[in-house]
Amino acid sequence: MSGTYTVVRTLGRSDAAHDILEELPEWFGIDRFTHEYVEAADRFPNYLAVASPSVGADGGAVPADDVLGVLLLDQRYPTSAEVHLLAVRRKHHRAGIGRDLMARVEDDLRGQGVRLLSVKTLGPSAHDPAFDQTRAFYGACGFHPVEEFPDLWADDPCLLMVKPL
Ligand SMILES: CC(C)(COP(=O)(O)OP(=O)(O)OC[C@H]1O[C@@H](n2cnc3c(N)ncnc32)[C@H](O)[C@@H]1OP(=O)(O)O)[C@@H](O)C(=O)NCCC(=O)NCCS
Repeated sequence: MSGTYTVVRTLGRSDAAHDILEELPEWFGIDRFTHEYVEAADRFPNYLAVASPSVGADGGAVPADDVLGVLLLDQRYPTSAEVHLLAVRRKHHRAGIGRDLMARVEDDLRGQGVRLLSVKTLGPSAHDPAFDQTRAFYGACGFHPVEEFPDLWADDPCLLMVKPL
């Protein structure tokens, strides 16, 4: 528990993911990507920051309005995993929720012997001020930029960032 929320691990909260992404058009303004992220909430473990009124409820039963942030984790290999999606409701930005979601994921992964956490985000050559903030967040969480891939995504440069656990 941290502040007025707690972090829970659950499955299948595409409703909450959809709600949160809709609040953040500077980051998730392209419908087809948003749709893909929302669908991913049904496939990947969901780490949710849940407002304190819902604490005690199972993460699967919390009302979407009480979900303040979501992180979807994609683990393809035994020793590495990727942050597939991370988003926090706008009015709760900069309150430590993103860092706390990441810390819970990292604790769980270390407990399983996972050694490397990665994330792909928009690269600096896109000159997008919203994603300058995103990369500052990942840097503050201990991620290092590895390489920008101009062609991995259809229209945007992709930056791979990694963190040793
Ligand atoms: C990026 C995001 C998940 C960060 O979550 P958050 O809860 O707002 O971040 P935190 O409060 O945990 O910040 C932790 C640290 O990251 C850094 N940081 C966070 N937001 C920042 C910003 N806007 N500018 C610069 N540094 C920032 C700071 O060092 C901060 O620590 P401090 O507040 O003590 O200085 C959230 O802002 C968000 O949802 N952004 C829009 C969606 C997005 O970018 N998702 C990732 C797509 S790949």
